[in-house]
Amino acid sequence: MSSEKIERVGIVGAGQMGAGIAEVCARARVDVLVFEKTAELADAGRARIRKSLDRGVSSGKITERERDQAADCLRFTTDLADFADRQIVVEAVLENERIKTEIFAELDRVVTDDDAVLASNTSSLPITRIATATTRPERVVGLHFFNPVPVLPLVELIPSLRTSDAVIERAERFAADVLGKQVVRASDRSGFVVNALLVPYLLSAVRMVESGFATTEDIDKATVLGLAHPMGPLALSDLIGLDTVKSIADSMYEEYKEPLYAAPPLLLRMVEGGLLGKKSGQGFYTYENGRIVS
Ligand code: 3HC
Repeated sequence: MSSEKIERVGIVGAGQMGAGIAEVCARARVDVLVFEKTAELADAGRARIRKSLDRGVSSGKITERERDQAADCLRFTTDLADFADRQIVVEAVLENERIKTEIFAELDRVVTDDDAVLASNTSSLPITRIATATTRPERVVGLHFFNPVPVLPLVELIPSLRTSDAVIERAERFAADVLGKQVVRASDRSGFVVNALLVPYLLSAVRMVESGFATTEDIDKATVLGLAHPMGPLALSDLIGLDTVKSIADSMYEEYKEPLYAAPPLLLRMVEGGLLGKKSGQGFYTYENGRIVS
């Protein structure tokens, strides 16, 4: 097993989750290389991280110097071949099996370090299926972060049937010791621990709105005030992204064939209509500058 300290990390994707993971790595002062498909997407990812770091400064969590040091740890590329020297790569692209397996096949070709860890931030796809897209399935593991990544302390660690003990241990040390996250282990079953519990709850809330059982506002108010949740299920669905909620539900439905995982028609129509939640400005609520306005 390699005891070499992890200093060179690659993140594939600079969307909501990828940017959050990159930020947390940069704040831990490791060298972070972020891949995006185009220069425009890379610029958007850089701006997203910068905004979040600025928020850390304004809320007194980090100093301006720490923000600048974190920013100095970040580089961007549009060429996955630049990941050759990475010791750990975390893939955080769309929840689409074909796209993810293509990326893992490419990472397998370009990452040269025999001890490298190839991790996926998938929310629900089986790690074993992603791993078999590579010639090194023992190097592949799930590392599932939670949104907003700089705020939520949990990481789920998901070994596949083929992951080596050395890779499991290295990935756990990275999440716990380098990034300072709390780690729980989960079996390689769609949804792992958190989404297996969360998604049926979110879908039930959508069904309540759909049937007219209660209003969006009252459902959220009830869970915030009655259960002390930080936000209600419909605001949380908007935060996660309704397309992502649907993709996770679809994976879990495919895995378990249980009606409680079936995406309700209202969710399907909202996704088809481009109402994706906070990121598109409209979901169960309307957003301006990331804040709910109605
Ligand atoms: N980046 C950095 N810091 C952030 C942040 C971000 N994107 N969003 C919020 N924060 C920080 C703020 O700076 C603030 O820090 P402070 O208390 O030190 O000032 C703190 O978090 C609280 O933020 P706000 O005051 O702006 O807002 P809230 O108090 O309403 O908290 C929230 C916002 C952190 C999003 C909170 O509502 C929350 O934790 N909600 C639940 C989120 C959740 O359940 N996430 C898991 C989703 S499931 C998932 O990700 C899995 C995937 O597979 C689907």
